Amino acid sequence: MDRQVKVDYHNPVKLSTEQAWAKVLEEPDQVRRQWLKDAIKSILKEQNILLVSHYYVHPDLQDLAIETGGIVADSLEMARFGKNSSAQTLVVAGVKFMGETAKILSPEKTILMPDLEANCSLDLGCPVESFIDASQHYPEHVKVVYANTSAAVKAHSDWVVTSSCAVDIVKHLRDLGKSIFWAPDKHLGNYIKNETGADMVLWQGSCIVHDEFKAFELEQLKKERPQAIVLVHPESPSAVIALADVVGSTSAILKAAREFPNQEFIVATDSGMMHQLRTQNPGKIFIEAPTSGASATCKSCAHCPWMAMNGLENLYRSLVEKRGEIVVDETYLAKAKIPIERMLQFTSRSSGTTKPGMVPGIGAA
Ligand code: 13P
Ligand code: SF4
Repeated sequence: MDRQVKVDYHNPVKLSTEQAWAKVLEEPDQVRRQWLKDAIKSILKEQNILLVSHYYVHPDLQDLAIETGGIVADSLEMARFGKNSSAQTLVVAGVKFMGETAKILSPEKTILMPDLEANCSLDLGCPVESFIDASQHYPEHVKVVYANTSAAVKAHSDWVVTSSCAVDIVKHLRDLGKSIFWAPDKHLGNYIKNETGADMVLWQGSCIVHDEFKAFELEQLKKERPQAIVLVHPESPSAVIALADVVGSTSAILKAAREFPNQEFIVATDSGMMHQLRTQNPGKIFIEAPTSGASATCKSCAHCPWMAMNGLENLYRSLVEKRGEIVVDETYLAKAKIPIERMLQFTSRSSGTTKPGMVPGIGAA
C-alpha cells in the first residue's frame, strides 16, 4: 500500500473566515474589573463552583482560579482535576474540547464555559465524518487522537492523549507492536513519530498559533542571546522544535523554567503562558519566540484567538445566568469516556516512575 498517497488524501479542512476568526474582548476599566473579580469570587464561594483555567487564558482568570481553590493547568491536569473535584458545578475557562472533556468524565456535573464558541483549529480541522472515512483505510491501526478534538472524534478513537503524555503512550503502543493512526496535529504527530520511532499515519491538521513560530528568526534570536534556554511546545513546526532545548506541554515548559538555573528563556508557545512563567520565576527573563520577521504570516501572533474569548464579563454572566452550559451528545458520551479514562489511568501509573530531575513527558531535542 502506498502510505504517502493515503496520507496526502487527508487534507485538513480549510476554515471559513467565520470559523477561523474569534471575538476580541474589550478590557473592563479598573473599577469594573475589580467589581467583577469580587463578584465572581463571591459566586464561586457561595455556590461551591470551581474555576478550571488553562495557562493561555487572561491572567485575571488564571489568578481567580488559584485564589478560589480551582486550578490553572495544562489540558491533562484540567481533565484530572475536573474529574476528581467534589464540586457539582465547574466553570472551564479555555476552549470547547476542555469543557467537553470535563463533561464526558463527569456527566452528572454541570460544566459552564464563558463562551461556548471558543474552539480550536485542530478540533475544527478534524470533522468526525472525515476522521471515520480516513481511519477506515487503516483498520489494523490503533486510533490515537489528541485531546484537542470533538467528543465525536474521541468516541471513535482508542486512545486520547495530551502533549504531556503523548510520547509515553505511543512508546507503550509501539512496544506492543502496534501501528498508529494519529489525528489531528501534524507537527505533534511528527514529533511523537521521531521520538518513538513508531509506525504512524498522520492527519494533516495544525494549530494556527504554534504553526506561526519561525525557525529562521528564532535562530537569529538564539545567536543574540546564547545563554537563553529555548522552550518549545510540540505543536510547533519541526524546524522550530529542532532548535529547542526542551520540548513539552505547557506544564512541562513551566517546570523546565523553574528547574533550569539559567536566567533567560525563549518561549515558543501562546503568550498567555508568560503570566505563570513570570509569576513563578521572579527575576528570570522570558522572551517570546518570533512569529514575525521576513516570513511572517500570522494574524493572531502567539495568542490563541479562542482562548482570548474568555474574559471577566462573560465569566460573570455564565455564573449569574448559568449560561454557556456544555452539552455532549448522548451518542458519544459513554464511548468518548473510554479513551480518555485510558489516558488518565496510564498517566497515573506512569507518573510515579519519573526519575528525579526529569521533566515528565518532555524530551531534550
Ligand atoms: P497543553 O496540553 O500543553 O496544555 O496544550 C493544550 C493546547 O491547546 C496547546 O495549544
Ligand atoms: Fe487550539 Fe492552538 Fe488554540 Fe491550543 S493554541 S486551543 S491548539 S488553536
